[in-house]
Amino acid sequence: MAEQSNRSAADLLALLRWQVEAGADEAIAEHPIDRYAATALAPQAPPRKAAPAPARALAPPAPRAPGEASGRSLAGAARTLGELAEALALFEGCPLKQTATKLVFADGNPDARIMLVGEAPGADEDRIGRPFVGVSGQMLDRMLACIGLDRTRVYIANAVYWRPPGNRTPTGEEIAACLPFVERHIELVSPEILVLLGAPAVKSLLARKEGITTLRGQWFQYESAGLARPIPTLATLHPAYLLRQPAQKRYAWRDMLALQEKAESLGLSIPSVKQPR
Ligand code: URA
Repeated sequence: MAEQSNRSAADLLALLRWQVEAGADEAIAEHPIDRYAATALAPQAPPRKAAPAPARALAPPAPRAPGEASGRSLAGAARTLGELAEALALFEGCPLKQTATKLVFADGNPDARIMLVGEAPGADEDRIGRPFVGVSGQMLDRMLACIGLDRTRVYIANAVYWRPPGNRTPTGEEIAACLPFVERHIELVSPEILVLLGAPAVKSLLARKEGITTLRGQWFQYESAGLARPIPTLATLHPAYLLRQPAQKRYAWRDMLALQEKAESLGLSIPSVKQPR
C-alpha cells in the first residue's frame, strides 16, 4: 500500500513536471476547465475555403466571433501609437491575451530612427508591461551599447504583444494574429532602419524560409502598403540565443557593426564604438 501511494506521488510529480515543461506553469483560474469537452460540445465552424498561400508563411488567425472587429481593421484605424495600443487592448483575436497578465506594447524612443522587433514578452515583461526588461533585455542593452546606442536612441517592440505561456515560442497563428498590429506599429514609427531579433520576427515580417543563422547579418527591404518607402532591415540573432550560445556573440557583434555602418551611411549619428563584453 505504502509502495502504491509512493508510486502515485512520483507519478503526480512527473505529471506536474511534464505540465511545467509544456508551459502550463501558472494557475489562471480557480478550477480546471476541460477544453476537450468544450470543443466536443461547441458548434463546428464551417470548413474554410482553400486560399492561395500567403506571401508570409504563417498560419491564418483564429476565426472571429460575430461582430468582432478584425485585427487588420482595428490596427488600420489607429492614427497614433496611443490609438494602436488602445486597439490592441480591444482586440480579442490572439489567444495569448487570455493567459498573459499585461499587454507588452513597446519601449524606447518613439521618435528614434532605428526600430527593433523581438520575439515575445517573457515573465518579467509580462509583469512589468514593457519589452526586454529581463535578462534578454540586459543582453540587448549591451549589444546596443557596443555601438553607442541605448533606449533613448532606439524603439523596441515584439512580434507578439502578449507572453506565450511558459515562454514558449509563439505559434504561427499567434504571430499572424498580431501581424496587422506589428505592421501598423512599423508604419506609425516609420523608422529609417528596422532590426529583426531572432527567427520569429524574421519569419513574421520577411517572406523568407531560411533559418536565422543563414539570414543573420543580411539586409532586406521591408515594405508595407502604408509605408512611403521600403525600410532597410537587418536580421540578427536574438539576445536570449546569445545568452545560451555565447560563442555566437561574435556574429552579433559583426551585425551591430553593420548596423552602425548603415546608420552612418543614412546620416544617423551614432557615438563612438565601445568594445563588446
Ligand atoms: N524576448 C523578446 O523577444 N522580447 C521581450 O520583450 C523579452 C524577451
